[in-house]
Amino acid sequence: MLTALKGNIIEALSPNSLGLHPNSFLVLEDGRVAGIYAQLPQAMKEAQVTDFGDALILQSFADMHLHGPQYEFTGTGMDRPLLAWLETYAFPAEARYADPAYARERYRQLSRDLIQNGTTRVSMFSSLHTDATLILMEELEKAGVTGYVGKVNMDRNAPAYLCETTEQSKAETLRWLDACRRFTKIKPILTPRFAPSCTEELLAFLGKVKAERDLPVQSHLSENVGEIALVAELFPDCGQYWQVYDKFGLFDGKTLMAHCVHSDERERAALLERGVRPVHCASSNNALMSGISPAAELLREGQGVCLGSDVAGGTTLSMLATMANSICASKDRGVMKNDPSQALSIEAAYYMATSAGQTFLGAKPGFGAGERLHAVVLDDTHLPMLPGMSLRDRLLRAVYRLDDRHIRAVYSEGVRRI
Ligand code: GUN
Ligand code: FE
Repeated sequence: MLTALKGNIIEALSPNSLGLHPNSFLVLEDGRVAGIYAQLPQAMKEAQVTDFGDALILQSFADMHLHGPQYEFTGTGMDRPLLAWLETYAFPAEARYADPAYARERYRQLSRDLIQNGTTRVSMFSSLHTDATLILMEELEKAGVTGYVGKVNMDRNAPAYLCETTEQSKAETLRWLDACRRFTKIKPILTPRFAPSCTEELLAFLGKVKAERDLPVQSHLSENVGEIALVAELFPDCGQYWQVYDKFGLFDGKTLMAHCVHSDERERAALLERGVRPVHCASSNNALMSGISPAAELLREGQGVCLGSDVAGGTTLSMLATMANSICASKDRGVMKNDPSQALSIEAAYYMATSAGQTFLGAKPGFGAGERLHAVVLDDTHLPMLPGMSLRDRLLRAVYRLDDRHIRAVYSEGVRRI
Protein backbone atom coordinates (compact mmCIF):
# COMPACT_ATOMS: atom_id res chain seq x y z
CA MET A 1 0.00 0.00 0.00
CA LEU A 2 1.24 3.48 -0.88
CA THR A 3 1.17 6.17 1.80
CA ALA A 4 2.94 9.51 2.15
CA LEU A 5 3.84 12.07 4.80
CA LYS A 6 3.75 15.68 3.67
CA GLY A 7 5.76 18.43 5.32
CA ASN A 8 9.26 19.92 5.59
CA ILE A 9 11.54 16.89 5.37
CA ILE A 10 15.10 17.02 6.74
CA GLU A 11 17.64 14.21 6.34
CA ALA A 12 21.11 13.76 7.84
CA LEU A 13 23.15 12.71 4.80
CA SER A 14 26.63 13.13 6.30
CA PRO A 15 28.20 14.96 9.27
CA ASN A 16 28.55 17.94 6.91
CA SER A 17 25.36 17.90 4.89
CA LEU A 18 21.61 17.99 5.33
CA GLY A 19 19.06 16.87 2.75
CA LEU A 20 16.44 19.64 2.81
CA HIS A 21 13.07 19.03 1.15
CA PRO A 22 10.65 21.89 1.86
CA ASN A 23 6.95 21.11 1.55
CA SER A 24 7.57 17.65 0.09
CA PHE A 25 6.18 14.13 0.09
CA LEU A 26 7.92 11.24 1.85
CA VAL A 27 6.36 8.29 0.02
CA LEU A 28 6.18 4.83 1.58
CA GLU A 29 5.35 1.47 0.11
CA ASP A 30 4.09 -0.84 2.87
CA GLY A 31 5.90 1.30 5.43
CA ARG A 32 9.20 1.34 3.54
CA VAL A 33 10.71 4.50 2.07
CA ALA A 34 10.03 4.73 -1.69
CA GLY A 35 11.42 8.25 -2.13
CA ILE A 36 11.09 11.96 -1.40
CA TYR A 37 9.36 14.11 -4.00
CA ALA A 38 8.46 17.80 -4.34
CA GLN A 39 5.27 16.69 -6.18
CA LEU A 40 3.65 13.29 -6.04
CA PRO A 41 4.70 11.45 -9.25
CA GLN A 42 1.85 10.36 -11.52
CA ALA A 43 2.37 6.68 -10.66
CA MET A 44 2.00 7.50 -6.94
CA LYS A 45 -1.10 9.68 -7.17
CA GLU A 46 -3.24 7.19 -5.25
CA ALA A 47 -0.97 7.38 -2.15
CA GLN A 48 -2.86 8.12 1.08
CA VAL A 49 -1.30 11.39 2.26
CA THR A 50 -0.98 12.45 5.92
CA ASP A 51 -0.48 16.20 5.69
CA PHE A 52 1.59 17.65 8.55
CA GLY A 53 1.29 21.16 7.17
CA ASP A 54 4.31 23.34 7.93
CA ALA A 55 5.77 20.94 10.55
CA LEU A 56 9.27 19.43 10.35
CA ILE A 57 9.63 15.75 9.43
CA LEU A 58 12.92 14.40 10.78
CA GLN A 59 14.53 11.00 11.11
CA SER A 60 13.65 9.68 14.56
CA PHE A 61 16.50 9.48 17.06
CA ALA A 62 19.06 6.78 17.83
CA ASP A 63 20.22 6.90 21.46
CA MET A 64 23.30 4.73 21.27
CA HIS A 65 24.23 4.74 24.96
CA LEU A 66 21.94 4.69 27.99
CA HIS A 67 21.31 2.60 31.09
CA GLY A 68 17.74 1.29 31.44
CA PRO A 69 17.76 0.68 35.20
CA GLN A 70 19.19 4.15 35.86
CA TYR A 71 16.33 6.02 34.18
CA GLU A 72 14.35 6.24 37.41
CA PHE A 73 16.88 8.52 39.11
CA THR A 74 17.57 10.81 36.14
CA GLY A 75 18.38 14.33 37.30
CA THR A 76 19.26 13.36 40.88
CA GLY A 77 22.59 12.51 42.50
CA MET A 78 24.72 14.70 40.28
CA ASP A 79 27.31 15.57 42.91
CA ARG A 80 30.07 12.96 42.50
CA PRO A 81 32.58 11.94 39.87
CA LEU A 82 32.13 8.63 38.07
CA LEU A 83 33.48 5.97 40.46
CA ALA A 84 31.89 7.49 43.59
CA TRP A 85 28.67 8.13 41.64
CA LEU A 86 28.49 4.45 40.65
CA GLU A 87 28.84 3.32 44.28
CA THR A 88 26.48 5.92 45.71
CA TYR A 89 23.67 6.08 43.14
CA ALA A 90 23.92 3.73 40.16
CA PHE A 91 24.63 0.40 41.89
CA PRO A 92 21.87 0.71 44.54
CA ALA A 93 19.35 1.63 41.81
CA GLU A 94 20.37 -1.26 39.56
CA ALA A 95 20.09 -3.73 42.46
CA ARG A 96 16.32 -3.10 42.56
CA TYR A 97 16.00 -4.86 39.19
CA ALA A 98 16.46 -8.22 40.88
CA ASP A 99 12.67 -7.94 41.26
CA PRO A 100 10.93 -8.74 37.95
CA ALA A 101 7.66 -7.01 38.90
CA TYR A 102 9.55 -3.82 39.70
CA ALA A 103 11.49 -4.10 36.45
CA ARG A 104 8.30 -4.61 34.44
CA GLU A 105 6.73 -1.39 35.68
CA ARG A 106 9.83 0.77 35.35
CA TYR A 107 10.79 -0.58 31.93
CA ARG A 108 7.28 -0.11 30.57
CA GLN A 109 7.49 3.56 31.55
CA LEU A 110 10.95 3.94 30.03
CA SER A 111 9.82 2.36 26.75
CA ARG A 112 6.84 4.71 26.55
CA ASP A 113 8.97 7.74 27.35
CA LEU A 114 11.50 6.84 24.63
CA ILE A 115 8.79 6.77 21.97
CA GLN A 116 7.25 9.93 23.42
CA ASN A 117 10.63 11.62 22.87
CA GLY A 118 11.01 10.36 19.31
CA THR A 119 13.71 7.79 20.09
CA THR A 120 13.02 4.62 18.10
CA ARG A 121 16.52 3.16 18.05
CA VAL A 122 18.73 2.41 21.04
CA SER A 123 21.77 0.58 22.28
CA MET A 124 21.06 0.14 25.96
CA PHE A 125 22.68 -1.33 29.06
CA SER A 126 20.40 -3.32 31.31
CA SER A 127 21.55 -4.50 34.76
CA LEU A 128 23.25 -7.82 35.45
CA HIS A 129 19.86 -9.50 36.01
CA THR A 130 18.91 -11.86 33.19
CA ASP A 131 15.16 -11.91 33.87
CA ALA A 132 14.90 -8.11 34.11
CA THR A 133 16.94 -7.81 30.90
CA LEU A 134 14.45 -10.02 29.07
CA ILE A 135 11.61 -7.89 30.47
CA LEU A 136 13.36 -4.75 29.22
CA MET A 137 13.72 -6.25 25.73
CA GLU A 138 10.07 -7.26 25.71
CA GLU A 139 8.78 -3.85 26.83
CA LEU A 140 10.94 -1.99 24.32
CA GLU A 141 9.81 -4.22 21.49
CA LYS A 142 6.14 -3.84 22.46
CA ALA A 143 6.47 -0.05 22.53
CA GLY A 144 8.14 0.05 19.10
CA VAL A 145 11.73 0.71 20.14
CA THR A 146 14.34 -1.21 18.09
CA GLY A 147 18.07 -1.89 18.42
CA TYR A 148 20.30 -3.53 21.02
CA VAL A 149 20.05 -4.33 24.73
CA GLY A 150 22.80 -5.93 26.81
CA LYS A 151 22.74 -7.89 30.02
CA VAL A 152 25.57 -6.27 31.99
CA ASN A 153 28.57 -8.41 32.98
CA MET A 154 30.34 -7.44 36.22
CA ASP A 155 32.23 -9.99 38.33
CA ARG A 156 34.52 -7.72 40.36
CA ASN A 157 34.89 -4.25 41.91
CA ALA A 158 31.17 -4.13 42.63
CA PRO A 159 29.29 -4.27 45.93
CA ALA A 160 28.29 -7.72 47.20
CA TYR A 161 24.62 -6.94 46.58
CA LEU A 162 25.29 -6.35 42.85
CA CYS A 163 27.98 -8.74 41.77
CA GLU A 164 28.08 -12.03 39.95
CA THR A 165 30.70 -14.71 40.30
CA THR A 166 32.59 -15.37 37.10
CA GLU A 167 30.74 -18.67 36.70
CA GLN A 168 27.35 -17.03 37.23
CA SER A 169 28.17 -14.29 34.77
CA LYS A 170 29.11 -16.80 32.08
CA ALA A 171 26.11 -19.09 32.68
CA GLU A 172 23.62 -16.21 32.85
CA THR A 173 25.00 -14.69 29.64
CA LEU A 174 24.37 -17.94 27.81
CA ARG A 175 20.89 -18.31 29.37
CA TRP A 176 20.08 -14.75 28.31
CA LEU A 177 21.35 -15.27 24.75
CA ASP A 178 19.21 -18.38 24.39
CA ALA A 179 16.10 -16.76 25.84
CA CYS A 180 16.23 -13.61 23.73
CA ARG A 181 16.03 -15.39 20.38
CA ARG A 182 12.28 -14.75 20.44
CA PHE A 183 12.70 -11.00 19.93
CA THR A 184 12.76 -9.68 16.39
CA LYS A 185 13.34 -5.91 16.79
CA ILE A 186 15.54 -5.90 19.89
CA LYS A 187 18.75 -7.86 19.61
CA PRO A 188 21.42 -8.81 22.16
CA ILE A 189 24.72 -6.94 22.51
CA LEU A 190 27.50 -8.20 24.79
CA THR A 191 27.99 -5.70 27.60
CA PRO A 192 31.02 -5.93 29.87
CA ARG A 193 30.17 -2.93 32.10
CA PHE A 194 33.69 -1.50 31.76
CA ALA A 195 37.14 -2.99 32.11
CA PRO A 196 37.36 -2.50 35.93
CA SER A 197 34.13 -4.50 36.47
CA CYS A 198 35.40 -7.63 34.72
CA THR A 199 38.06 -10.23 35.40
CA GLU A 200 40.32 -11.33 32.57
CA GLU A 201 38.63 -14.72 32.65
CA LEU A 202 35.22 -13.13 32.06
CA LEU A 203 36.51 -10.84 29.27
CA ALA A 204 38.13 -13.84 27.56
CA PHE A 205 34.82 -15.72 27.76
CA LEU A 206 32.93 -12.77 26.24
CA GLY A 207 35.51 -12.51 23.44
CA LYS A 208 34.98 -16.18 22.67
CA VAL A 209 31.18 -15.86 22.66
CA LYS A 210 31.45 -12.80 20.43
CA ALA A 211 33.60 -14.66 17.92
CA GLU A 212 31.44 -17.79 17.95
CA ARG A 213 28.11 -15.97 17.60
CA ASP A 214 29.22 -12.87 15.72
CA LEU A 215 27.71 -10.52 18.31
CA PRO A 216 28.21 -6.78 18.77
CA VAL A 217 29.77 -5.34 21.95
CA GLN A 218 29.24 -2.17 23.98
CA SER A 219 31.21 -0.77 26.88
CA HIS A 220 32.81 2.40 28.29
CA LEU A 221 36.23 3.80 27.31
CA SER A 222 38.38 6.62 28.72
CA GLU A 223 35.52 8.48 30.35
CA ASN A 224 37.17 9.78 33.49
CA VAL A 225 40.73 10.18 34.79
CA GLY A 226 40.09 8.15 37.99
CA GLU A 227 38.68 5.32 35.90
CA ILE A 228 41.67 5.38 33.53
CA ALA A 229 44.11 5.18 36.47
CA LEU A 230 42.16 2.19 37.87
CA VAL A 231 42.35 0.39 34.52
CA ALA A 232 46.13 0.93 34.38
CA GLU A 233 46.43 -0.57 37.88
CA LEU A 234 44.17 -3.57 37.14
CA PHE A 235 45.61 -4.40 33.71
CA PRO A 236 49.33 -3.57 34.00
CA ASP A 237 50.22 -5.45 30.80
CA CYS A 238 47.93 -3.26 28.68
CA GLY A 239 49.66 -0.03 27.69
CA GLN A 240 46.37 1.78 27.13
CA TYR A 241 42.74 1.36 28.14
CA TRP A 242 41.54 0.24 24.68
CA GLN A 243 44.08 -2.56 24.69
CA VAL A 244 42.15 -4.32 27.48
CA TYR A 245 39.16 -4.76 25.17
CA ASP A 246 41.39 -5.48 22.20
CA LYS A 247 43.33 -8.17 24.05
CA PHE A 248 40.12 -10.16 24.42
CA GLY A 249 38.72 -9.60 20.91
CA LEU A 250 36.16 -7.01 22.01
CA PHE A 251 37.26 -4.08 19.85
CA ASP A 252 36.14 -4.04 16.22
CA GLY A 253 33.62 -2.63 13.74
CA LYS A 254 30.73 -4.08 15.73
CA THR A 255 31.74 -2.27 18.93
CA LEU A 256 30.33 0.83 20.60
CA MET A 257 32.55 2.61 23.11
CA ALA A 258 30.85 5.25 25.22
CA HIS A 259 32.63 8.54 26.02
CA CYS A 260 36.26 8.44 24.69
CA VAL A 261 36.68 11.84 26.37
CA HIS A 262 40.35 11.33 27.21
CA SER A 263 41.39 9.13 24.27
CA ASP A 264 44.78 10.35 23.06
CA GLU A 265 46.14 10.16 19.52
CA ARG A 266 47.15 6.53 19.81
CA GLU A 267 43.84 5.39 21.26
CA ARG A 268 41.97 7.38 18.63
CA ALA A 269 44.05 5.85 15.84
CA ALA A 270 43.13 2.40 17.20
CA LEU A 271 39.42 3.31 17.28
CA LEU A 272 39.57 4.50 13.71
CA GLU A 273 41.63 1.61 12.42
CA ARG A 274 39.26 -0.97 13.95
CA GLY A 275 36.11 0.94 12.99
CA VAL A 276 34.99 1.04 16.65
CA ARG A 277 32.22 3.62 17.15
CA PRO A 278 32.75 6.24 19.88
CA VAL A 279 29.48 7.34 21.51
CA HIS A 280 29.52 10.95 22.59
CA CYS A 281 27.62 11.57 25.85
CA ALA A 282 27.87 15.32 26.47
CA SER A 283 25.34 15.62 29.28
CA SER A 284 26.93 12.88 31.34
CA ASN A 285 30.44 14.17 30.66
CA ASN A 286 29.29 17.45 32.15
CA ALA A 287 27.18 16.11 35.03
CA LEU A 288 29.80 13.63 36.28
CA MET A 289 32.59 16.16 35.61
CA SER A 290 34.34 13.71 33.30
CA GLY A 291 35.61 16.29 30.81
CA ILE A 292 34.72 17.77 27.43
CA SER A 293 34.91 15.34 24.52
CA PRO A 294 36.82 16.25 21.37
CA ALA A 295 33.74 15.17 19.37
CA ALA A 296 34.32 17.52 16.41
CA GLU A 297 37.93 16.34 16.13
CA LEU A 298 36.82 12.71 16.19
CA LEU A 299 34.34 13.39 13.39
CA ARG A 300 36.99 15.20 11.37
CA GLU A 301 39.27 12.18 11.73
CA GLY A 302 36.53 10.10 10.12
CA GLN A 303 35.31 8.30 13.26
CA GLY A 304 31.66 7.18 13.14
CA VAL A 305 30.67 9.04 16.30
CA CYS A 306 27.15 8.38 17.63
CA LEU A 307 25.26 10.24 20.37
CA GLY A 308 24.06 8.87 23.68
CA SER A 309 21.97 10.33 26.47
CA ASP A 310 23.88 8.13 28.96
CA VAL A 311 20.90 8.33 31.29
CA ALA A 312 21.32 8.59 34.23
CA GLY A 313 24.86 9.95 34.18
CA GLY A 314 23.19 12.20 31.60
CA THR A 315 20.30 14.33 32.77
CA THR A 316 17.80 13.89 29.94
CA LEU A 317 16.28 11.21 27.72
CA SER A 318 15.54 13.84 25.04
CA MET A 319 17.83 13.53 22.04
CA LEU A 320 16.93 17.12 21.07
CA ALA A 321 18.42 18.25 24.39
CA THR A 322 21.31 15.82 23.89
CA MET A 323 22.12 17.47 20.54
CA ALA A 324 21.93 20.91 22.17
CA ASN A 325 24.20 19.76 25.01
CA SER A 326 26.69 18.38 22.49
CA ILE A 327 26.84 21.64 20.57
CA CYS A 328 27.21 23.68 23.78
CA ALA A 329 29.95 21.43 25.15
CA SER A 330 31.88 21.59 21.89
CA LYS A 331 31.82 25.39 22.01
CA ASP A 332 33.12 25.37 25.59
CA ARG A 333 35.96 23.19 24.36
CA GLY A 334 36.54 25.61 21.50
CA VAL A 335 36.86 28.48 24.00
CA MET A 336 39.19 26.51 26.26
CA LYS A 337 41.41 25.47 23.35
CA ASN A 338 41.12 28.83 21.60
CA ASP A 339 40.01 26.86 18.53
CA PRO A 340 36.61 27.65 16.98
CA SER A 341 36.82 24.53 14.81
CA GLN A 342 35.95 22.49 17.91
CA ALA A 343 32.33 23.67 17.62
CA LEU A 344 29.88 21.07 16.34
CA SER A 345 27.56 22.21 13.55
CA ILE A 346 23.85 21.36 13.47
CA GLU A 347 24.66 19.07 10.53
CA ALA A 348 27.09 17.12 12.72
CA ALA A 349 24.80 16.99 15.76
CA TYR A 350 21.78 15.80 13.74
CA TYR A 351 23.88 13.20 11.92
CA MET A 352 25.29 11.81 15.19
CA ALA A 353 21.79 11.67 16.72
CA THR A 354 20.29 9.77 13.78
CA SER A 355 22.21 8.37 10.81
CA ALA A 356 25.34 7.40 12.76
CA GLY A 357 23.33 5.08 15.00
CA GLN A 358 21.19 3.87 12.10
CA THR A 359 24.24 2.72 10.18
CA PHE A 360 25.64 0.90 13.22
CA LEU A 361 22.30 -0.92 13.38
CA GLY A 362 22.57 -1.89 9.72
CA ALA A 363 20.30 0.71 8.07
CA LYS A 364 21.20 3.26 5.39
CA PRO A 365 21.74 6.90 6.45
CA GLY A 366 18.99 9.49 5.99
CA PHE A 367 15.59 8.29 4.75
CA GLY A 368 17.27 5.49 2.79
CA ALA A 369 15.23 3.94 -0.02
CA GLY A 370 13.81 0.56 0.95
CA GLU A 371 14.25 1.12 4.69
CA ARG A 372 11.28 0.92 7.07
CA LEU A 373 10.31 4.41 8.11
CA HIS A 374 11.73 5.80 11.35
CA ALA A 375 10.57 9.39 11.64
CA VAL A 376 9.49 12.08 14.07
CA VAL A 377 7.25 15.03 13.23
CA LEU A 378 8.15 18.18 15.16
CA ASP A 379 5.76 21.11 15.30
CA ASP A 380 7.54 24.45 15.59
CA THR A 381 4.69 26.48 14.11
CA HIS A 382 4.00 28.24 17.44
CA LEU A 383 7.40 29.95 17.07
CA PRO A 384 7.81 33.03 14.88
CA MET A 385 8.86 32.50 11.26
CA LEU A 386 11.63 35.04 10.82
CA PRO A 387 12.36 36.72 7.50
CA GLY A 388 14.49 34.49 5.28
CA MET A 389 14.42 31.62 7.77
CA SER A 390 15.69 28.37 6.21
CA LEU A 391 14.83 24.79 7.16
CA ARG A 392 18.36 24.53 8.54
CA ASP A 393 17.68 27.52 10.84
CA ARG A 394 14.46 25.86 11.96
CA LEU A 395 16.25 22.58 12.72
CA LEU A 396 18.81 24.38 14.90
CA ARG A 397 16.05 26.25 16.72
CA ALA A 398 14.08 23.02 17.20
CA VAL A 399 17.11 21.49 18.92
CA TYR A 400 17.28 24.37 21.38
CA ARG A 401 13.59 25.05 21.92
CA LEU A 402 11.45 21.96 21.31
CA ASP A 403 10.80 18.90 23.45
CA ASP A 404 8.38 15.97 23.66
CA ARG A 405 5.40 18.34 23.93
CA HIS A 406 6.02 19.40 20.32
CA ILE A 407 6.16 15.91 18.81
CA ARG A 408 3.09 15.34 16.63
CA ALA A 409 3.89 11.89 15.31
CA VAL A 410 6.47 9.13 15.70
CA TYR A 411 6.98 6.28 13.21
CA SER A 412 9.05 3.21 13.96
CA GLU A 413 9.57 0.34 11.52
CA GLY A 414 6.98 1.90 9.24
CA VAL A 415 4.28 1.94 11.94
CA ARG A 416 2.88 5.10 13.50
CA ARG A 417 3.31 4.90 17.28
CA ILE A 418 2.13 8.40 18.23
N1 GUN B 1 31.20 3.26 33.62
C1 GUN B 1 30.86 2.08 34.17
N2 GUN B 1 29.55 2.05 34.49
C2 GUN B 1 29.05 3.24 34.13
C3 GUN B 1 27.75 3.82 34.21
O1 GUN B 1 26.78 3.22 34.67
N3 GUN B 1 27.62 5.10 33.74
C4 GUN B 1 28.68 5.78 33.21
N4 GUN B 1 28.49 7.01 32.77
N5 GUN B 1 29.90 5.27 33.15
C5 GUN B 1 30.09 4.01 33.59
FE1 FE C 1 27.27 4.87 30.52
